[in-house]
Amino acid sequence: MAARILLRSGRNYSAVSEASVLTIGGAKGGAGKTVTAINVASAVRSVGYSVVVVDADLGTTNVADILELDCETSIHKVLAGEADIGEAIVTTETGLDVVSGGDSLEYLIDADPAELRPVIDTLADSYDVVIIDTGTGLSHEVLVPFGLADGVVLVSTPKNTSIVDTRKTAEVVEKVDGTLLGVVVTRVTDDTDVDRVRDQIDLDLLGLLSDDPQACKTEPVVMEAPDSDLADGYRQLATTLIRLENDRKDADGDDQ
Ligand SMILES: Nc1ncnc2c1ncn2[C@@H]1O[C@H](COP(=O)(O)OP(=O)(O)OP(=O)(O)O)[C@@H](O)[C@H]1O
Ligand SMILES: [Mg+2]
Repeated sequence: MAARILLRSGRNYSAVSEASVLTIGGAKGGAGKTVTAINVASAVRSVGYSVVVVDADLGTTNVADILELDCETSIHKVLAGEADIGEAIVTTETGLDVVSGGDSLEYLIDADPAELRPVIDTLADSYDVVIIDTGTGLSHEVLVPFGLADGVVLVSTPKNTSIVDTRKTAEVVEKVDGTLLGVVVTRVTDDTDVDRVRDQIDLDLLGLLSDDPQACKTEPVVMEAPDSDLADGYRQLATTLIRLENDRKDADGDDQ
């Protein structure tokens, strides 16, 4: 493995073990992928891991908008080969490192999704966990992060259409040799028929997340409203993902 590097001076990014690269996906728009990526990252960070969120929703990057961050160097510029990844990392007030797009459309056309792999490899040398947020649909820019991740988490709402898209997305993850960790269902209310959702999804269910307007706030709900059910759901999801990743690393170690 390549030697770990420091992307920015003065920061200790030493990883406790080999990194975990997790992609958050799901073909249906607005299911809660980005909010999930940000909150899982915050929850993972709060238990001591170094984490970076990468906004790979290249067409409509919005992690920076949601977190109200000024990303001077965009992910597009990095993927266009015009900037180093270290220049594109911005830290939120709560300490979360983020790589996202900016307001400018410059470099959008030249941003090559295939370049994500070396970029993520570089980040994985410096962080414990890399979380990739993806866009809607099943285009090449979504398939690349599915294929390169150690694990893919799909986000669905309880709606039939969202579940159908989620199952289709799971098939696509398999086709690109990705590793599906399971599905997380957001926007769950007291009226949600959880048994129907579980039966229909018929894939590993990683968690059920409450419908909560606090999800729309600028600060991640795990920081802003840590006592809420939604924050608790994200913390449990983060714990589950860490456990699955530790199991994977143990199994990889046993194979060597
Ligand atoms: N658990 C939740 N409860 C209530 N609202 C939520 C929840 N999760 C997400 N939302 C809201 O739903 C909207 C869509 O969320 P988000 O942007 O995370 O979805 P997405 O899947 O990333 O969408 P896109 O496909 O456009 O990237 C946002 O307004 C967000 O605040
Ligand atoms: Mg999104």
